[in-house]
Amino acid sequence: MDCNKKIQIIDVGPRDGFQNVKSFIDTPTKLAIIDGLYQSGIRVIEVTSFVSPKAIPQMVDAADVAKAVIARYVDLRPIALVPNLRGAENAFESGIREVVCVISASEAHNSANVNRTIDESLASLNTIIKALPTMQVRLDVATAFGCPFSGKVPEENVLHLVEAATKLGVQGITLCDTIGVANPAQVRSLLAAMQREFPATSLALHFHNTRGMGLANICVAAEMGVRDFETSAGGLGGCPFAPGSEGNTATEDTVHMLHEMGYETGIDLDKLLGTVQCIADHVDAPLTGKMLGVHKSTCSNISGNAN
Ligand code: COA
Ligand code: ZN
Repeated sequence: MDCNKKIQIIDVGPRDGFQNVKSFIDTPTKLAIIDGLYQSGIRVIEVTSFVSPKAIPQMVDAADVAKAVIARYVDLRPIALVPNLRGAENAFESGIREVVCVISASEAHNSANVNRTIDESLASLNTIIKALPTMQVRLDVATAFGCPFSGKVPEENVLHLVEAATKLGVQGITLCDTIGVANPAQVRSLLAAMQREFPATSLALHFHNTRGMGLANICVAAEMGVRDFETSAGGLGGCPFAPGSEGNTATEDTVHMLHEMGYETGIDLDKLLGTVQCIADHVDAPLTGKMLGVHKSTCSNISGNAN
């Protein structure tokens, strides 16, 4: 493989996608979908989140999902999102060794999402890093490109948050376009600032596709050297605490575009589309990816009646 052409896809569907689905997806169905992603070649998956079940009832089976995934695969990096120390401790107890903490670049969304100020969330991040020294901790910077409540988010706010989190010892940063407002020029500008200020920081990007700009943003970022992208099979996704947010950029559309451009992901698009068909058949949510319609597939992972 040409290393310069290798891109890592992190599928966040089982976390970011499922968290926004109202009707409960039973644990075996969640595990079958995760297995389909694994069988298609995806090796980094956000499998669940250890959050308050009052805030996100869909994630009530986080420990069961995490334990089953860890028992089943040796070469998968299962990641869990956590909002606080309690979530990180529960994740650790379930065998998870890599978590993402989420802090918004805008105060208004941080408050709506986790009911804390940004400073309180940074203090909580510090506590997690100190309490669990063997846990890999990344930071998801939510609303890095715009906030549903306060509108434009200045680049300095993102850079300050990244600087503070980097000083605390996070092992990587993901800039998240929570509501899908980023455009390629904005991505180029923020990325240039990140690459100038934090050249050694492991950086991933996460674009919701609310306005159809996800692939364009990924394209620009890939050409600027970013090699880690968070996407979601079927284009599921959205933050329940960010009005107007829609699905993530679909993994299958991203893989298709990147392969056509000569990048390598290690993912078998046909197998992935079989899993997207399973999601279409068994998850009660609209899918927004384009490739399934172009390339009809059959659900092979889950038997029984479709809902
Ligand atoms: N796991 C499970 N339960 C948790 C928890 C966790 N990580 N953290 C808190 N709780 C429980 C508390 O025990 C409490 O339960 P109780 O009412 O039965 O006593 C309840 O949740 C509220 O706890 P509190 O510490 O007062 O938090 P809060 O009400 O300020 O809520 C969060 C803060 C962060 C726990 C909550 O908003 C949350 O989980 N949000 C999820 C955010 C998210 O996933 N967003 C989408 C992804 S970006
Ligand atoms: Zn998201």
